[in-house]
Amino acid sequence: MPLGAETSRLTAEIRTMTEFSAVELIIAKREHGELSTDQINWLVANYTSGVVADEQMASMAMAILLNGMNRREIKDLTMAMIASGERLDFSGLKSTTADKHSTGGVGDKITLPLAPLVAVFGVAVPQLSGRGLGHTGGTLDKLESIPGWRAALTNDEMYRQLAEVGAVICAAGSGLAPADKKLYALRDVTGTVESIPLIASSIMSKKIAEGTASLVLDVKVGSGAFMKTLDRARELAQTLVALGQDAGVRTSALLTDMSTPLGRKIGNALEVEESVEVLAGGGPADVVDLTVELASEMLRLAGQPDADVRAALNDGRAMDKWNRMIRAQGGDPTAKLPTCPESTTIFAEQDGYISKIDALAVGVASWRLGAGRAKKEDAVQLGAGIVLHAGLGDWVVKGQPMLTLHSNDAARFERANEALNGQILIDPVNPPAERTILLEAIRG
Ligand code: URA
Repeated sequence: MPLGAETSRLTAEIRTMTEFSAVELIIAKREHGELSTDQINWLVANYTSGVVADEQMASMAMAILLNGMNRREIKDLTMAMIASGERLDFSGLKSTTADKHSTGGVGDKITLPLAPLVAVFGVAVPQLSGRGLGHTGGTLDKLESIPGWRAALTNDEMYRQLAEVGAVICAAGSGLAPADKKLYALRDVTGTVESIPLIASSIMSKKIAEGTASLVLDVKVGSGAFMKTLDRARELAQTLVALGQDAGVRTSALLTDMSTPLGRKIGNALEVEESVEVLAGGGPADVVDLTVELASEMLRLAGQPDADVRAALNDGRAMDKWNRMIRAQGGDPTAKLPTCPESTTIFAEQDGYISKIDALAVGVASWRLGAGRAKKEDAVQLGAGIVLHAGLGDWVVKGQPMLTLHSNDAARFERANEALNGQILIDPVNPPAERTILLEAIRG
């Protein structure tokens, strides 16, 4: 860097450094104060560039978690995180765009059938996805079980695929909301993930920067979700929808049940297998119903309230799109998916109705089998996971197979079983209350 440029960079940095003090801002939030737009812009810009230290931002994240932020502060935080990176622009495409974001759950493979399904109707789906951390799986990990499939696309490749195929699921590039990337990694190790202002600004900064015209949020509620209660999930959903509207994105949120896993297969390749069953017109009813609800909502926002999405699953149009979408990213949709050499099956100990299959327990068990990662750098076992042979409310008889655990490493079965202990129950007399997947919708 020429000396002049270096001097002016330092001058600019010193100017920003002297404008506010991180410690004062932390104390203000600790004392329930409100941060101004300038203060938030300064904080995010200087955290991204490394002037505000990780330990200061961790302290601020904890103050926000404990004392909250008002709507204006959350909006400012979101806009500042967007401004930390690039914004994609799909306005040159012939079709409008719609995207979906899930707050994360167990067995939540809905993005896989959903993106091609919505694209059938001429609405482009730019789905920037992530990898799994903890007990919830990541869409990219699932798709990487398809031989040859490639998650990393350039912005140009993504744009071209959207124009030619209509749907793309790929990794969010490092240029999109880098402040969020840094802050999310910090929250993950400082006990500050479960804060509504931080979750909402994190999700919406990426989605607004991505440039989608419409957005449907699948806000999960229950043991396997961030939000354990309907009240908290509703508050998050309302915050997300307000942020979307403020940014000019047509936004809805569906609150959906995550007390029990979605579908019968949990794990990377296993979830691809189940998604393909849905695209072939079959698959478990809960996965099909939620896919149809979310697709209908995306199409409603995109101006097609009467689209018959079930027909597109049943007549093969969604499957055709899926095959094109996978091939466009180097994947072979006909290739055999990875499996694990080791498995063990758990059998029903009595006759009765399955009255509980706890989502968190199944997610943790699948993670321990190798389907998830504990640290960002860890590799996942593509074939690992759990197959449920019966679902909530089904009648089983003693000795019938209930679930099978799959792993590359039989030594993992014991710890997975520990997670499941007492979390899958049979009631000899009473069936459980019927499960409702769609709990509420919040529309702007
Ligand atoms: N997903 C995100 O992208 N960010 C969060 O903070 C939580 C879930």
